[in-house]
Amino acid sequence: MKTRHRQKSRLRRSGAQIMASLVLLLGSLAYIMVLAVFNGSLGFLCAMGVTLFGAVGIAKLMGEAIALSWGAIAALAVGCGVLRGVLRYLEQYSNHYIAFRLLAVLRDKIFGALRLLCPAKLETKQKGSIIAMITSDIETLEVFYAHTVSPICIAVLVSLCVFLLVGFVSGWYLALVALAGYLTIGIVLPMVSSGRLKDSGVRYRAEFASFNAYFLDSIKGIRDIVLNNAGVAREAEVNRRSDILLGETRRMKREITRASAATELAVSLFIAAALAVGIAQVSGGSLSVGRMIIGVVAVFGSFGPVIAISALPGNLTQTFASGDRVLNLLTEQPAVRPVENGRSISYRNLRVRDLSFSYDGQAPVLRELCMHAAKGEIIGIVGESGCGKSTFLKLLLRFWQKTGGEIAYNGTDIDGINTDSLLDNVTMVSQSTYLFDETIEENLRIAKPGATQQELESACRMAAVHDFILTLPDGYRTQVGALGDRLSAGEKQRIGLARAFLRGSELILLDEPTSNVDSINEGIILRALRQQKNKKSIILVSHRASTMAIADRVYKVENGKMEEVQGL
Ligand SMILES: Nc1ncnc2c1ncn2[C@@H]1O[C@H](COP(=O)(O)OP(=O)(O)OP(=O)(O)O)[C@@H](O)[C@H]1O
Ligand SMILES: [Mg+2]
Repeated sequence: MKTRHRQKSRLRRSGAQIMASLVLLLGSLAYIMVLAVFNGSLGFLCAMGVTLFGAVGIAKLMGEAIALSWGAIAALAVGCGVLRGVLRYLEQYSNHYIAFRLLAVLRDKIFGALRLLCPAKLETKQKGSIIAMITSDIETLEVFYAHTVSPICIAVLVSLCVFLLVGFVSGWYLALVALAGYLTIGIVLPMVSSGRLKDSGVRYRAEFASFNAYFLDSIKGIRDIVLNNAGVAREAEVNRRSDILLGETRRMKREITRASAATELAVSLFIAAALAVGIAQVSGGSLSVGRMIIGVVAVFGSFGPVIAISALPGNLTQTFASGDRVLNLLTEQPAVRPVENGRSISYRNLRVRDLSFSYDGQAPVLRELCMHAAKGEIIGIVGESGCGKSTFLKLLLRFWQKTGGEIAYNGTDIDGINTDSLLDNVTMVSQSTYLFDETIEENLRIAKPGATQQELESACRMAAVHDFILTLPDGYRTQVGALGDRLSAGEKQRIGLARAFLRGSELILLDEPTSNVDSINEGIILRALRQQKNKKSIILVSHRASTMAIADRVYKVENGKMEEVQGL
């Protein structure tokens, strides 16, 4: 268990690959990033300028030949200070503009990816980890765009400028000391510490995600926990996991502190080295005191951007883990791709021949199954629990890709029919209906956005739920959320059925439509189905003999096959 967990938490891509992919996602926002880097670099150089012009003044005082007047030096120092403020503002503005625009773009992309993956792949993914991705992983990526990419570019640019300035003004020995400092603090130290931080960062994120998922799961299932009197065990497990999380947090913080201490030490050492080299050169006569002061002051003030980089790994490892998960989702292959350049159909009949299917390399669920249906027929499907009835209905909607055989609508195989057209012609009421936290009316309109009140009511009458809706506090305008858990399974089921009637598709697939309904309401629903029958096909899965009685023909699923049976 532990090793599997470890394997799962390892990154699929290298840090560089993740960064490159994330930067590529920038697209047309890249020019704003360039602006941010430009403003940031210039801003930092201006900040250095304030002390640097001070040093120039001191050098002039000590007899150095400086072409600038006292007034010009003072004006430049003040000018740098003012400009620093403006540039800093612009840098922050552009960074955050990018970050928040990108968050919107990323959320959009993730939603798009989820839509493609849905429903097949999402059946197996833990919902908690998807929620974690949409909320905290994307937030973490904000850090990447606003506080990672541009600091790195700024550090490179600023270090290069100071290296050249010090080289030309105060000699290349001093410049080389500065360069060695930048490389050590900006590259060597972060590389050493990121190796350790990467592991602990990834472990921390994995623990965090798993803890969140477990906690959310426990809250969702709290009723079943109480029912089974499993609260104490559940609480113990929550505590155990939160202890593990705490341990990981501690380890990560310790590593981060160690890394930042090493950075501080390195900065002090290189400043001391610059001073020593400067003094040595002055006493050797190869450098004037004035130029030495300018050079050393420049080096003193120039470590800011590389220190900012060395502080990154702590964030960066989390960012990489988040980025990796988001990229994984964006590149995940859906079980089925929507058909866009196929045919559009207007349903007349369905013929299934030799249909085979197995879930992702598992044992086959359906084997060379044959059946047919035409308009005006109600087809019943029976079979033991787990024999593949719901799977068959999902295949008719192409939620999964069939492994073999043919599902032909009007003679055209399902793989050649546009997905939009398929979903317009075929609708399904599944075993569980999801109601959104909106009004009942809006929940119904998802099936037909422009439906009139009359249409809503007639669909609800057919589904035997109209009278019930009228008993709710605000009738059709009642908020589902405000009802909490008040809606019974049967009531939800009938709202799902009303959606299907409203949608008006020519082929209706019903997965246990009456399983939670009493016999009076069952009667109303069955009568509605019979009325609809002339214009449509209805495929009905049910365990109830009373419901099956309205079927014109009945198929039985057994051992993955479908046989037509008589006299049920
Ligand atoms: N997403 C999935 N991945 C792997 N196996 C699955 C998946 N969904 C269903 N199965 C398996 O496929 C088999 C058929 O499931 P299906 O839901 O079609 O049964 P069913 O006939 O509708 O049962 P019931 O009458 O209980 O609703 C079962 O063994 C089930 O465990
Ligand atoms: Mg089922």
